[in-house]
Amino acid sequence: MVWTKVLAQEDLPAGSRQVVKVAEQKVLLLNQAGTIYAVSNVCPHLKLPMKSGKVTPEGDIVCPFHRSAFKLCSGEVSQWTPFPPGVGKVLGMISKEQKLPVFPTKVEAGSIWVDVAA
Ligand code: FES
Repeated sequence: MVWTKVLAQEDLPAGSRQVVKVAEQKVLLLNQAGTIYAVSNVCPHLKLPMKSGKVTPEGDIVCPFHRSAFKLCSGEVSQWTPFPPGVGKVLGMISKEQKLPVFPTKVEAGSIWVDVAA
């Protein structure tokens, strides 16, 4: 494990999100009701930013562009490019279906840590 301190815990209150750069990776940190997640801010479909993606009640983060949905906890694909209707399926063929990278996090001594090497 290679832990990197990324933020003070108080800088990511419940319901907030922030993008940080760790070892050349853009990492999106989300505080969902006190649980901290770290996922790539780069959608695996067309490499567009995930930052404004909605989180569903099922715990998926949805890309704001073609609405691919990924499990926040594992990065597994729940849906691949369903949007826009009809066209999304064609756009989805541009790159093969793949997981959103997710990274382990921990809170220690008032700081949030991320391991992007895992
Ligand atoms: S860029 Fe995210 S689904 Fe297309």
